[in-house]
Amino acid sequence: MISSLMWITVLMTAALVFCIIFLYGKSKSLRSKTLCQLPLGTLGWPFLGETIDFISCAYSDRPESFMDRRRRLYGKVFKSHIFGTPTIVSTDAEVSRFVLQSDAKAFVPFYPRSLTELMGKSSILLINGSLQRKIHGLIGSFFKSPHLKDQITRDMQSYVQQAMDKWRDDQPIFIQDETKTIAFQVLVKALISLNPGEEMELLKKQFREFISGLMSLPVKVPGTQLYRSLQAKKRMVKIVHKIIQSRRNSSTSATVPRDVADVLLKDASELLTDDLIAGNMIDMMIPGEDSVPVLMTLAIKYLSDCPAALHQLTEENLKLKRLKAQNGESLIWSDYLSLPFTQSVITETLRMGNVIIGVMRKAMKDIEIKGYLIPKGWCFFAYFRSVHLDENYYDWPYQFNPWRWQEKDMISCYNFTPFGGGQRLCPGLDLARLEASIFLHHFVTNFRWGAEEDTIINFPTVRMKKGMPVWVKARVD
Ligand code: HEM
Repeated sequence: MISSLMWITVLMTAALVFCIIFLYGKSKSLRSKTLCQLPLGTLGWPFLGETIDFISCAYSDRPESFMDRRRRLYGKVFKSHIFGTPTIVSTDAEVSRFVLQSDAKAFVPFYPRSLTELMGKSSILLINGSLQRKIHGLIGSFFKSPHLKDQITRDMQSYVQQAMDKWRDDQPIFIQDETKTIAFQVLVKALISLNPGEEMELLKKQFREFISGLMSLPVKVPGTQLYRSLQAKKRMVKIVHKIIQSRRNSSTSATVPRDVADVLLKDASELLTDDLIAGNMIDMMIPGEDSVPVLMTLAIKYLSDCPAALHQLTEENLKLKRLKAQNGESLIWSDYLSLPFTQSVITETLRMGNVIIGVMRKAMKDIEIKGYLIPKGWCFFAYFRSVHLDENYYDWPYQFNPWRWQEKDMISCYNFTPFGGGQRLCPGLDLARLEASIFLHHFVTNFRWGAEEDTIINFPTVRMKKGMPVWVKARVD
């Protein structure tokens, strides 16, 4: 009897201690949850949220005014409701960096419905975990390889030359269209080694139809844009499948991969199926196709408005051209990247132009950063544009000033993220810089020009209203 009483006492004491520990733990986690609160801000109207205000600002020449107003009221991180979903907007470089560095257990990419429909489930832009890291690593190191850079330089030189040979001085040249044609040729060559010709034209036509659906209503029945875009993607995938099949059937394979398709085909793991490779070749054109021509066009726009920068850039490039001519050498990729002022012009164009205004993620669980709570299921919008135009980081942020990049401590990966960061850092960044350098070199060393008045449109993507018309005159020097 005594011993059973003793056991009951021991068990009850143990249960009490357990309850105390459990409740203490609970209260601690509750306290930390209440300490870490949703950022300030408003979710706006039912359903619409603050989307109308966001879009009307996005169409103006100061898209960041939407963020600026809220930053003043609520701080650098605030809550809103845009793109049909509750969203935490970050204009804080440190918070955005933390999110970009996080893995897929915390955040996954977030895109509008129409975009995810068009990309498909195995797209590099959507997948997570080891498969994303694998594909990202393979294409990233291929785009960095000197072999690819050599090839891109040769291709780019010939595409630029072909385009410029057609330019005349009695009609305007639309830089936006010209750079789009050149960059598409380079991209398709780097991805699947297709040369300019009938098939390339067909691919280009289908691609135009495909991307028209990226921002369309997410309804995919015959007659809708999304349906037409999906059909166009099917036709493009068919072209790529044919290329993949002929490589699989070929008895000889290139020792050095000639393009991204080769890199993925050579991968020994069974994870990369032909369907996955074909679909991804098309999906990779989405981030690559528009961004590089916009970068080149904006550089011409900013240079046209800043004669001092144009003069210094031209001198630097002419000097290199003369030196190479004297030595009887042709330019190689490292020559283009060795010009410090030209690189500063490209960096400053990326800062001011904000070709990609920011990136979006979806929170997979409640996350706390710097005292802010990002609730599970909410969208997180890292808005780079506000950081790139923040006067705390950049003096006179709205002034095109390539010289600012010549100060040693200027480049910080926190405050300058035109190519994103973390595990999804743009694998095409070297390619983009190289293409811009080659284009600028040939443009400024072959021509003088006068630009017509034109304005930058920022939504839904960055572009020039009139296509950046310029009147060129061949240089005689
Ligand atoms: C000026 C030119 C470019 C800019 C500003 C740019 C910017 C970006 C940014 C900000 C991201 C990150 C997206 C995210 O975190 O969700 C990204 C990703 C990506 N970019 Fe670029 N990009 C450029 C050119 C290119 C080119 C030429 C290619 C070549 C195909 C390319 C391929 C990609 C791919 C495949 C991803 C997705 C990577 C992943 O999710 O693993 N980009 N880019």
